[in-house]
Amino acid sequence: ATTLGAAAAGKGKTFGAAVANGRLGESQYATTLDTEFTGVTPENEMKWDATEPSRGSFSYGSADAIVNRAQSRGQKVRGHTLVWHSQLPGWVSGISSGSDLLQAMRNHISNVAGHYQGKLVYWDVVNEAFEDNGTRRNSVFQQRIGNSYIEEAFRAARAADPGAKLCYNDYNTDAVNAKSDAVYNMVRDFQARGVPIDCVGFQSHLIVGQVPSSYQQNLQRFAGLGVDVNITELDIRMPTPASSGNLQTQANDYRKVVQACVAVARCTSITVWGITDRYSWVPDTFPGQGAALLFDNNYAKKPAYNAVLEGF
Ligand code: XIL
Repeated sequence: ATTLGAAAAGKGKTFGAAVANGRLGESQYATTLDTEFTGVTPENEMKWDATEPSRGSFSYGSADAIVNRAQSRGQKVRGHTLVWHSQLPGWVSGISSGSDLLQAMRNHISNVAGHYQGKLVYWDVVNEAFEDNGTRRNSVFQQRIGNSYIEEAFRAARAADPGAKLCYNDYNTDAVNAKSDAVYNMVRDFQARGVPIDCVGFQSHLIVGQVPSSYQQNLQRFAGLGVDVNITELDIRMPTPASSGNLQTQANDYRKVVQACVAVARCTSITVWGITDRYSWVPDTFPGQGAALLFDNNYAKKPAYNAVLEGF
């Protein structure tokens, strides 16, 4: 295969990228997206602050633009994300009663997931609800509603879009560790109690040279529960400017991630968190680091690009 998407398709999988609507007018950005990728995740456009900036007022313009564009090209769309502690408008964090917040959360999910009903393959219903030690993150949802907010979110999402696969998504869950144990136990508990859940997303914001040795084993144990597993936000960062040695190590890392997904039948998609290093979130969040994606600042294919093709 000569593109990422075709290589993944050879193994029955999707290769996606996070996309920013504001960049789609740039021809190299759009061309690279359409040539290489068979899946799309809106990078920010479906988050709560974008879709319901004030209570009961919904805005879908930029997310719709991404979805409609992707659908006209046959690219699969992943919804991201319905319930998250970050990029949350102030009015949500300002709700002081649990019953009111639950009502607001259900209304948000029913509107947003309802708007996209039938158009999305996967939804990241709840994002980043656990701490690295496996306890619940102390978000406004956790504080006001309590443990039940996650299952409430999944139930509301199922009611709004019965055809979408509903996922829990998190970072630092890529290895077998306390955090992925907590997610694993939650999935088992949901299945035992009939709470809808279809998939788990592993963000996989990795550091060069540090693909966890238990990566494949971890994907496999979740697949063993009968859920799809998705690599949802893959990038592999390094100090910038990138050294050629680190770019080679990064290529090997990307190959390992792809091979782990290929080895796990229920690993149905890999999504990288951006197309080009030029617009990656990494340098803004991890100062001094970057070069985390498959195309460099000028859209040239990096060693990691070829390693991904080889990994499939
Ligand atoms: C990031 C976006 O890439 C940035 O543009 C934005 O400023 C902050 O959020 N985990 C997630 C993603 O689930 O939504 C985050 O995306 C990156 C970390």
